[in-house]
Amino acid sequence: MSVKTLGQFIIEKQTDFPFSKGELSRLLADISIAAKIVNREVSKAGLVDILGETGKVNIQGERVKKLDVFANEQFIAAFKAGGEVCAIASEENDDIISINTDISKNAKYVIAIDPLDGSSNIDVNVSIGTIFSIYRRVSLKGAGVLEDFMQRGTDQVAAGYIIYGSSCMLVYTTGKGVNGFTLDPSIGEFCLSHPNIQTPKKGNVYSINEGNYLHFPDGIKKYLKFCQEEDELSNRPYSSRYIGSGVADIHRNLITGGIYIYPTTTKSPNGKLRLLYECNPLAFILEQAGGKASTGGKRIMELPITELHQRTPLFLGSSEMVDVAQDFMTKYSSDLI
Ligand code: AHG
Ligand code: MN
Ligand code: MN
Repeated sequence: MSVKTLGQFIIEKQTDFPFSKGELSRLLADISIAAKIVNREVSKAGLVDILGETGKVNIQGERVKKLDVFANEQFIAAFKAGGEVCAIASEENDDIISINTDISKNAKYVIAIDPLDGSSNIDVNVSIGTIFSIYRRVSLKGAGVLEDFMQRGTDQVAAGYIIYGSSCMLVYTTGKGVNGFTLDPSIGEFCLSHPNIQTPKKGNVYSINEGNYLHFPDGIKKYLKFCQEEDELSNRPYSSRYIGSGVADIHRNLITGGIYIYPTTTKSPNGKLRLLYECNPLAFILEQAGGKASTGGKRIMELPITELHQRTPLFLGSSEMVDVAQDFMTKYSSDLI
């Protein structure tokens, strides 16, 4: 059996970018190394009680770091050492991290990252993830600036996620389809396991935090009732599946078909999820896989961005399901879209 590693795949695909000098390929390789390190720590998370709780001092006299802090530091260190980006935006940092070192002086890219998504699941041994989004810088030289991140999702050069699940997988797109790689721990390499992922046009799974039901817009309340109705022809009722790790919910729906919704609520009138490092990269992947991503009315990737940690409602998944959910919003909550 022949195995194609992520490294081999990236080199092969480099010719898709005629003027590329390999910087993007090296950046993707940097991400994969940090991902392996984070995966190693995630897989030991259950041992924390034996080895020392987070926030306490471990037997080597070091403070045991929370995994989200650890993941953030690993990715930032990998990007600084790689020299391919001139700035980083992270969910864990209020401001951008500008980089201006000898090796980064010709850096063409900036990267936005959610280093650990689904962090409420860390302590209970449930899948978590990392999300990343890469843009070409708009500033001319030196350290990257905030303006480099104020680009629309349609300007993304590449985006992806890593899921630390029953297997560790890296899924990414450079705008020419979506490919998934599974980490083979015995050789320490991500191997191409899901070439050219296409999401089904419709599925029978809906993923939403129904505990917020009372605070949902009428369009969502009515759509949820539609999902729960009996209808043989359209395979309803759909199944409700919600892990609370966006990457895990969205990865499952990508493979099997389904819809993930994090709408506005009366408590969070802009939604919860962040446009730059959660919604835009996930939207890029889903669109590249034949799915859709919207606010319930507008295409996510065309939204203007004015703030680093800007929030937006998100409707993401199989195209026909997103269309139907949007129709409910148009009919019952047109004031909100
Ligand atoms: P993060 O852990 O990076 O803060 O993101 C969690 C996100 C998303 O992954 C998940 O689907 C959603 O928030 C869960 O939110 P609720 O607990 O409000 O449902
Ligand atoms: Mn997140
Ligand atoms: Mn996070």
